[in-house]
Amino acid sequence: MKVINNIREMQSFAESFRKSGKTIGFVPTMGFLHEGHLSLMRQAKKENDVVVASIFVNPTQFGPQEDLSRYPRDEEGDRAKCASAGVDHLFLPTAAEMYPEPPSVFVSIEGITDVLEGAIRPGHFRGVATVVTKLFNMVKPHRAYFGQKDFQQCAVIRRMTRGLDQDVEVIVLPTVREADGLAMSSRNSYLDANERRRAAVLFRALKAGEELIRAGVREPEQVRQKMRETLLTEQGIEIDYAEVADPDTLRPLEALSGRIVLLIAVRLGTTRLIDNLLVL
Ligand code: PAJ
Repeated sequence: MKVINNIREMQSFAESFRKSGKTIGFVPTMGFLHEGHLSLMRQAKKENDVVVASIFVNPTQFGPQEDLSRYPRDEEGDRAKCASAGVDHLFLPTAAEMYPEPPSVFVSIEGITDVLEGAIRPGHFRGVATVVTKLFNMVKPHRAYFGQKDFQQCAVIRRMTRGLDQDVEVIVLPTVREADGLAMSSRNSYLDANERRRAAVLFRALKAGEELIRAGVREPEQVRQKMRETLLTEQGIEIDYAEVADPDTLRPLEALSGRIVLLIAVRLGTTRLIDNLLVL
């Protein structure tokens, strides 16, 4: 596996792969890798000639009160994991090269970013869309892989590639979970043992919501209420939202029919956790 730190070098590698007819699969990450990230890399390996993964803790997607400075890092461990998952090129751009002056160019997507994570984390999706566009311009991928874990992020990236005619196929893969249902996340490392045990309630709440819908409940408010009740069975959970939404627009549903996504965000101690479940 080759490690690349320099943007120009990444671009010239990408150019040479494309010239020789090789397809490039790309997995952008912020590092502290777990099985969720690795599942994306393995799938990219199956579907492409060359796999590029990036690790960049992107400052523009963190709010001023968020966890940028304490975001977990493990470059050495991440390198070994990428190599074992079949990554050919690991791209580690520096913040100085990524944003040479205070950034003045942004990609913003309207509508879909007003709700849920976008409402609670102003500017977050602008930061994500901007860095992902920049990374696409560096890695020049044919296919890019994202996890359903960040459901709204996937919807934003899809909108972005369509709206800007970015020539990249966006592939979304299922959420990888721990044995008790907790979605894997780099941020789970913030949880102490007691919080870690309580964190499994997110998945239980999503399942309880899904069960109501499968049992024929057609009133979204009842499903929201059930998810909230379930979350509050554990101590110290503060709910940001427990929503029943349209998977394409992310707008709250007023009636239940067709495709539905259940989305939850909570704070547990100082850790913010999100999860979701598609109900088809
Ligand atoms: P990060 O949180 O490191 O996640 C990188 C990718 O891994 C994202 O597509 C995310 O959805 C996926 N992922 C995370 N946990 C997962 C899980 N349990 N199962 C499956 N996939 C999972 O998301 C970001 O970084 C950043 O916003 C980024 C897109 C890199 C832009 O900075």
